[in-house]
Amino acid sequence: DWKMDSFVKTTVAELKEKIGTGRALCALSGGVDSSVAAVLLSKAIGKQLTCVFVDHGLLRKNEGDEVEAVFGPDGPYDVNFIRVNAKDRFYAKLAGVTEPEKKRKIIGEEFIRVFEEEAKKIGAVDYLVQGTIYPDVIESGLGKSAVIKSHHNVGGLPDYVDFKEIVEPLRLLFKDEVRAVGRELGIPDYLVNRQPFPGPGLGIRIIGEVTEEKVKIVQEADAIYREEVAKAGADKGLGQYFAALTNMRSVGVMGDGRTYDYAIALRAVETSDFMTAESAQLPWEVLSTVTRRIVNEVKGVNRVLYDCTGKPPATIEWE
Ligand code: XMP
Repeated sequence: DWKMDSFVKTTVAELKEKIGTGRALCALSGGVDSSVAAVLLSKAIGKQLTCVFVDHGLLRKNEGDEVEAVFGPDGPYDVNFIRVNAKDRFYAKLAGVTEPEKKRKIIGEEFIRVFEEEAKKIGAVDYLVQGTIYPDVIESGLGKSAVIKSHHNVGGLPDYVDFKEIVEPLRLLFKDEVRAVGRELGIPDYLVNRQPFPGPGLGIRIIGEVTEEKVKIVQEADAIYREEVAKAGADKGLGQYFAALTNMRSVGVMGDGRTYDYAIALRAVETSDFMTAESAQLPWEVLSTVTRRIVNEVKGVNRVLYDCTGKPPATIEWE
């Protein structure tokens, strides 16, 4: 794609010029935006860039290792990569907390704290890299009326980190353009095509208290769901699809015995802007295959529900 090719060339040249021999720091979430921003910077300044990836223990199955495979020392990019395995800290802070907004605040704050600690170890940097894209720029300018959910993003760190300037190489691009740039840069498809994943991660897809056991359950169920939907080619046109763990347990039967286990909820939505969404009509065969696999393979689950609600009145995430 000549347009993306020239965007990459121009941007890399501009970044080189601007940053010179300076040092840059990037909070890498593994999402499309921060990944593409990081790779652009790595092309421009290589090891003068340090990427900090905070694994809060609320990522999807294998996600931490996937990010490390791309950006870590064995990956194709010439950057400094720090993975902080902070799950114990996050789980400890979340113990006993059930209120959705409280959970969001705790995860957001702890994230900043961990990032800040790493930034302090690195020392003063000249540039803080952010994966801000055009819709973010517009949205933050509008001034939202009511807070429905307090969003946690890997943006919003500047106050806590010692740096001179922010660099936002994607601030004029829309999402599909960011993906095209990512492909142009040779970033693997599973990263480039990744569906949006909220900053608080599985923390807001587990209703009620977050525990390590519940995280495992939702990770396994979600991995099965994504695998089967993709295998059936049913992911086309879906804005987002994932499993959530309800806080409800119900009675079931297995062999001769009674079970009393959790219910998993499956969500799939079609949306153009994530402000409104419709529940997707997934093929019943896919849903029944997923259901069978989840109840057979995921310990602690004996029931699977499908979320038929649109947004509004529901939101896409469950919390
Ligand atoms: P809701 O649940 O409000 O979600 O319908 C709309 C879109 O926003 C994503 N989302 C978040 N993204 N930090 C993020 O980066 C957050 O705290 C957050 N909360 C929701 C959600 O996944 C959906 O794409």
